[in-house]
Amino acid sequence: MHARPPTVRLAQGSIRVLTPDDAEPYRALRMRALYEQPPAFGALPEDEPGLAETRERLRESLDRCYFGAFNDGCELVGIVRFSRYSAANEKHRAYLAGLYVWPDCRGKGFGRALVQRALRRAYNTPGIRRVNLTVVTTQDAAVRLYISVGFRIYGTDLQAFSSHGVLYDEHLMTMPVETAT
Ligand SMILES: CC(C)(COP(=O)(O)OP(=O)(O)OC[C@H]1O[C@@H](n2cnc3c(N)ncnc32)[C@H](O)[C@@H]1OP(=O)(O)O)[C@@H](O)C(=O)NCCC(=O)NCCS
Repeated sequence: MHARPPTVRLAQGSIRVLTPDDAEPYRALRMRALYEQPPAFGALPEDEPGLAETRERLRESLDRCYFGAFNDGCELVGIVRFSRYSAANEKHRAYLAGLYVWPDCRGKGFGRALVQRALRRAYNTPGIRRVNLTVVTTQDAAVRLYISVGFRIYGTDLQAFSSHGVLYDEHLMTMPVETAT
């Protein structure tokens, strides 16, 4: 567990919170992610909202935002969503979802920087004590990345979804947030 918010180090490019103006590249990257095989996500491309709703979703709120990674050419090459649970008795928890880096840009630190940036948000939000996520068990790079920043597997959701006739399991991962007091 990190005692302090993790530092974000990126040799090239940058990370920032996405806004409604990023809707087009965000949606294009998200659709690319949903079509990838083997699947990283249980969500279906046909259920992905259109551009107008995507714009609304990208409006940052206290409890939810999307981070984007940009290469040196200012193209969006990676995404992740940070959300806080909404029920009053669950607001001490947040979760990460939809982490994805454009295949040509993998292995350059964008994925780690996105996760660290989202974790920093958790550390800087008073009251958040835990961050959760689920990850398809066959996504080795993602599982290794999450473990390297402090997540641990606390269970496995067997046959969580099917894709192209194959059933996929998902690890449930969690990480405590030790806020500075
Ligand atoms: C997981 C993913 C986001 C990683 O992005 P990335 O930009 O390539 O990751 P980074 O370059 O920041 O690497 C961070 C760590 O991830 C792990 N990792 C990255 N690529 C890996 C690979 N090919 N094999 C094993 N581990 C790998 C390593 O632990 C690495 O740390 P290290 O370089 O110190 O060994 C990317 O592979 C991806 O988009 N995968 C498909 C989508 C997915 O699985 N999303 C998770 C949904 S829950």
